[in-house]
Amino acid sequence: MDFYIILLAIILVLIFLSYHVVFYFRTKVPIIITPKKFIINLVDHIKQNNLLDSNSVVYELGSGWGDFSFAIENLNPQKIIAYELSFIHIFWSKIKAKIRKSKISFEMKDFFQADLSDADFIYIFLVPKIVDKVWKKMKQECKTDTMMVLLGHELSNEKYLYKIKTNPDKKDSTYYYFYRIDK
Ligand SMILES: C[S@@+](CC[C@H](N)C(=O)[O-])C[C@H]1O[C@@H](n2cnc3c(N)ncnc32)[C@H](O)[C@@H]1O
Repeated sequence: MDFYIILLAIILVLIFLSYHVVFYFRTKVPIIITPKKFIINLVDHIKQNNLLDSNSVVYELGSGWGDFSFAIENLNPQKIIAYELSFIHIFWSKIKAKIRKSKISFEMKDFFQADLSDADFIYIFLVPKIVDKVWKKMKQECKTDTMMVLLGHELSNEKYLYKIKTNPDKKDSTYYYFYRIDK
């Protein structure tokens, strides 16, 4: 009996890992999640600096389990839209949203096909090559003053507005980089 349970566990882990590998080949982005502590620090920063208000429209591009979207909902922006291609992640996010009676719109969609023209604030944790493409799209579509927060690295061809530590308790903390559309 124990043998079959262990075998089943191994098979499930292998299926889960293969799923991630297949997705990596599709999107060229690994499914890695922003640590909860980083999200708490970011939401605190957004709150303390009044970066959002009740009219703000927020996007999370590549939402994973939706942790940023759920956290930012506590600040009551007008609308939150989260795009994700992974079926498992979007399915779980939708269930969680239902249980929490959340108004976040989780959509299984390629964010390159999305219209970002009403965005006030965009959260991104991707890889440099894809982020460069997103920034190009944002510059074409988004209105002046739309903000983008990027976890982990800077844009190659653009100076950031400012940066904050993802985890101020750590000496070797990574950073969130803030950018603003300036037309
Ligand atoms: C590094 S993870 C970040 C997840 C989440 N935003 C977080 O910070 O915890 C990037 C996510 O973007 C998704 N993704 C990559 N390219 C995408 C695309 N073109 N459209 C929608 N989702 C995409 C991946 O499936 C993955 O879940």
